Amino acid sequence: MVAEKIQSNWLEFTGYIQDHIQSPRKEKLLEFYEKYGERIAMMPASHKKEYHNAFVGGYVDHVNRVIRCALALHKTWADMGADITTYTKEELVFSALNHDLGKMGDEQHEAYLPNTDQWRKEKLGEEWMFNKALPFASVPDRSLFMLQSHGISYSFNEMVAIQTHDGLYDEANKKYLMGYLPEQKPRTSLPFIIHQADLMAARIEFEQEWLPKFQNPVTQGKSSSTLGTNSQKPVTKPGAAKQKALSSVKSEGLKSMLDNL
Ligand SMILES: [Fe+2]
Repeated sequence: MVAEKIQSNWLEFTGYIQDHIQSPRKEKLLEFYEKYGERIAMMPASHKKEYHNAFVGGYVDHVNRVIRCALALHKTWADMGADITTYTKEELVFSALNHDLGKMGDEQHEAYLPNTDQWRKEKLGEEWMFNKALPFASVPDRSLFMLQSHGISYSFNEMVAIQTHDGLYDEANKKYLMGYLPEQKPRTSLPFIIHQADLMAARIEFEQEWLPKFQNPVTQGKSSSTLGTNSQKPVTKPGAAKQKALSSVKSEGLKSMLDNL
C-alpha cells in the first residue's frame, strides 16, 4: 500500500470520529488514536497473507470498509423494516470503528510483528507473527479492555456488537446469538449489522486480493504451499503528491514513518 493511500485512509478513519461521535467521547477517541496513530496506521488486518488485508496499512483500510458497509447496511435494514430506533448511528459507527481494536495488542505490546521466521513466511505465507510477549485475550475482549483502560465509555449496545462481531464463527457468541427464547435474543439488530458489515468487508478484501490471481494458472512445482506473494503495488518513491499528502499529517512520528515508506 502506498504512503498516500495510508494517509488518506487515516484521514477517512479519524473523519468518522469527527463526524459521528459526540463530545466528550469524540475527544477521548481522537486522543487515543493520536497516541497510537503510528502503530494503528501501519498495522495489517491479519497475520497471514491468505487472510484479509495482511499488508502494511491493512487494518485501517479494513475498518474503514467495515464502517462504509455498516452505514450502507443500516440503510438496507431500515428499508426492509428493521427497527433502527433500537440503536443510534453513533453506536453503529463506534462499534464498527472499534470492532477489531484488540488486534493492536496492548499499551506496551504490538500483537503482530514482521515475521523473522523465513520458513514460515515463505512456506506458510505468514508475513507476520504474534508477539509472544503479549498475554492472550480474544480480539473483542482486548478491544473492550483497551477502550475502558483509556477512559472511553461504551454503551450496552456497543459492548454486545463489538463482542459478537464475528457472529457464529466464534462459538463464544452462541449465548448472545442463539438464544431460542424471545427474551434472550438481542433487543437490537446492531450486532447482526456489524457482523454482516465485517463479513462483507473481509469478503471484498479477499476478492480484491485473490480473484485476480485465479485468472492465471498456479505455477506448477512451486515449492510454497501458498499461491504467491501479496499483490499490493510496490511502495512508490517520494514524489510531489506524497510530499503534499504528508504535509497535512500532524503527528511527527507518523509523518516520518510514512515518509520512510
Ligand atoms: Fe474485522
